[in-house]
Amino acid sequence: MVRPRSFRSLHSLALAILAAASSSSAQLVSTGLSVTFNDVYYFISPYSSGKLAVLPKTLSSLPSVYGFKPVTVVGGAFARSDLPELVANWTAMDDVFQPAFLQAVFLSGSDDSCVGHTAIANGVSSLVLPINDTTIPSGPHFLETATGSLYPVYRLYEDFAGAFTESLLQTPEGKFQPLSAQVPGSASLTIGVPSRLYYTKTAEKPLAGVRIGVKDIFALAGVKQSNGNRAWYNLYPANNVTAPSMQRLIDAGAQIIGLQKPSQFANGETATADWVDYHSPFNPRGDGYQDASSSSSGAGASAASYEWLDIAVGSDTGGSIRGPSGVHVFSATVHHVMPLSTNLDTAGFLLRDPFLWDVANTVLYKENYTSLATVEPKYPKTVYTIGFPTHASSSAANALLLDFLDSLTTFIGGAAKPFNITSEWASSRPAEVGDLTIPQLLNTTYPALITKEQTALLRDPFFRDYAAAHDGRTPFVDPAPLARWAYGDSLPASALQEAIRNKTVFMDWWNARIMPPVADPAQCSSSLMLYVGSAGAGAGSTRNRYLSPPQVPFGWSTGRISVYSGCPDHVYPIGQVAAKSDVTNHEELFPVAVDIMAAKGCDGLLVRLAQDLIDAGILAVPKTGGSTTGGDILK
Ligand SMILES: *[C@@H]1O[C@H](CO)[C@@H](O)[C@H](O)[C@H]1NC(C)=O
Ligand SMILES: *[C@@H]1O[C@H](CO)[C@@H](O)[C@H](O)[C@H]1NC(C)=O
Ligand SMILES: *[C@@H]1O[C@H](CO)[C@@H](O)[C@H](O)[C@H]1NC(C)=O
Ligand SMILES: *[C@@H]1O[C@H](CO)[C@@H](O)[C@H](O)[C@H]1NC(C)=O
Ligand SMILES: *[C@@H]1O[C@H](CO)[C@@H](O)[C@H](O)[C@H]1NC(C)=O
Ligand SMILES: *[C@@H]1O[C@H](CO)[C@@H](O)[C@H](O)[C@H]1NC(C)=O
Ligand SMILES: *[C@@H]1O[C@H](CO)[C@@H](O)[C@H](O)[C@H]1NC(C)=O
Repeated sequence: MVRPRSFRSLHSLALAILAAASSSSAQLVSTGLSVTFNDVYYFISPYSSGKLAVLPKTLSSLPSVYGFKPVTVVGGAFARSDLPELVANWTAMDDVFQPAFLQAVFLSGSDDSCVGHTAIANGVSSLVLPINDTTIPSGPHFLETATGSLYPVYRLYEDFAGAFTESLLQTPEGKFQPLSAQVPGSASLTIGVPSRLYYTKTAEKPLAGVRIGVKDIFALAGVKQSNGNRAWYNLYPANNVTAPSMQRLIDAGAQIIGLQKPSQFANGETATADWVDYHSPFNPRGDGYQDASSSSSGAGASAASYEWLDIAVGSDTGGSIRGPSGVHVFSATVHHVMPLSTNLDTAGFLLRDPFLWDVANTVLYKENYTSLATVEPKYPKTVYTIGFPTHASSSAANALLLDFLDSLTTFIGGAAKPFNITSEWASSRPAEVGDLTIPQLLNTTYPALITKEQTALLRDPFFRDYAAAHDGRTPFVDPAPLARWAYGDSLPASALQEAIRNKTVFMDWWNARIMPPVADPAQCSSSLMLYVGSAGAGAGSTRNRYLSPPQVPFGWSTGRISVYSGCPDHVYPIGQVAAKSDVTNHEELFPVAVDIMAAKGCDGLLVRLAQDLIDAGILAVPKTGGSTTGGDILK
């Protein structure tokens, strides 16, 4: 049964109509049509993918809404006898297609002699018909019987994790408009995904049909951006250009399906306590009420919640990708968009599939990413560890961490070696720093870098524009960015240059003395380095905590090494541990993850290693759901 879900978007009125009786003209444009078909929510795109030259007269028995009938197009050289196997393959690989679309099947390469009823899938009698147009993609469509036009089908899903700020429809020209559809859901958006059957991956379009969510700090043409701030969203018009990094994904065939929640202006915020303008997304793992971390929270929560989403694009300055992915999925490290610090900002992906990770990195970073997909890697033999446990018996998480370390070193034929940055620095630090420790040298470096630039490049023009539009008023800003900006204002102008100098001292030391690259591209890095990303903690990081006001992020931590040195720091989910949740009063599974680093420029090595460890059974591809092995999401 096909049932209409929206009146405002009637396709048959899609053409702009000139109001004949008036001197002014009125434009009436379809924004798509929502329907249910066998209780599945669908959206019919307003952008036709082609037209039948001859409209068959035999379709009257098909269900119909406003003259739209569900049909299937089969391109390529398939015989009628191939169809049952083809359709079985389609059903397995695509969440949009369902056999009910098979009541009419337009088979290319066939002629009138093939017309007739046949059984392709159980329970459906299919009428096979010829079609000449080979440009219409294979897959489910809605046929507008008044015109013979075929329209692509999107499946609609509820954003129950609250991960998105805007639901988008990508036009055939790679521009964007809001997706006008709503399925049931409490305070949540509806996201639409096109059938996977429309797309074929090629060398030019390696991301064809890959469904991507983008952190709402990147510019997309035709779309308003929020940066996590309501005043910003409402003050500025829609972007008129797409960020070059996102354009590379689109040019490679990606389908961007929405913008996703960042913490405000990509500053660190804790769930609920600091998120005043927008509500922090829900982390699906464990008890469902763990902090989704920040700032790429929408990205992390969605990659762990939705099987219908392939990739979430985040950005990382001081841990914004690595934080959210520590609780969920794989992640890595572009330039960029809304500045937090132009010296530190990188864009990167959060996703479940490390094979897709390599392809997406190649598209995004181009010449700055060396894929090892076709090279036999020679993994470095030294695996440094920082802050690793020493006794497996001390906790279930520690047992997992040590077991992973053991499997990793065995796999690469190397050895683990504890790394003490304090003593290494003391023995090889550059003469120019005298006897300063790292925490002394770098204590205020990160806050100086992120605040001096964000105040100058973002806040000052924003406040000026807002004041001009609102009679001198100041816009609302969340407490976390305000606390950081106030610190930036307290610093002299020279602090930025000083911070860049300090960062460079550390970067040069790290990249020359500790983790230099090697000439052989199959090895790339002199060593690997591991530290604990998340140890399965449950209690203590739930989102219902009352916290003290946000602090300026002073100090030193292992997570800052990659921030200052520019070396890649990726997150591998390695397992999970059971712990009693204060929220559910029940044992829940909480993820354990390691961070792994290699020399600057060796991102490809870490991606290839993730793939090889999956092939060897040492890592597993994380699933969506309440745990990294799947299961219901508590909500
Ligand atoms: C169905 O998928 C299998 C496995 O990928 C493939 O070998 C086969 O050729 C496919 N059949 C058709 C008709 O596409
Ligand atoms: C396909 O093209 C042939 C030759 O131009 C034409 O005779 C036939 O009617 C077309 N069939 C359809 C279904 O469009
Ligand atoms: C795009 O918008 C910017 C301001 O946001 C403006 O300066 C520029 O002229 C616009 N470009 C086009 C092509 O409209
Ligand atoms: C590669 O890195 C260089 C130097 O940082 C930068 O100028 C260039 O834009 C980068 N290219 C891409 C595709 O990101
Ligand atoms: C690292 O070295 C410092 C200085 O030698 C020492 O005080 C500290 O205890 C060491 N840390 C660890 C974890 O061994
Ligand atoms: C870091 O700087 C802050 C602010 O100046 C100061 O309060 C704190 O004591 C410093 N910490 C260290 C380890 O120097
Ligand atoms: C830079 O390092 C000096 C020590 O050489 C230290 O006094 C200063 O606080 C540091 N400043 C920043 C912004 O990193």
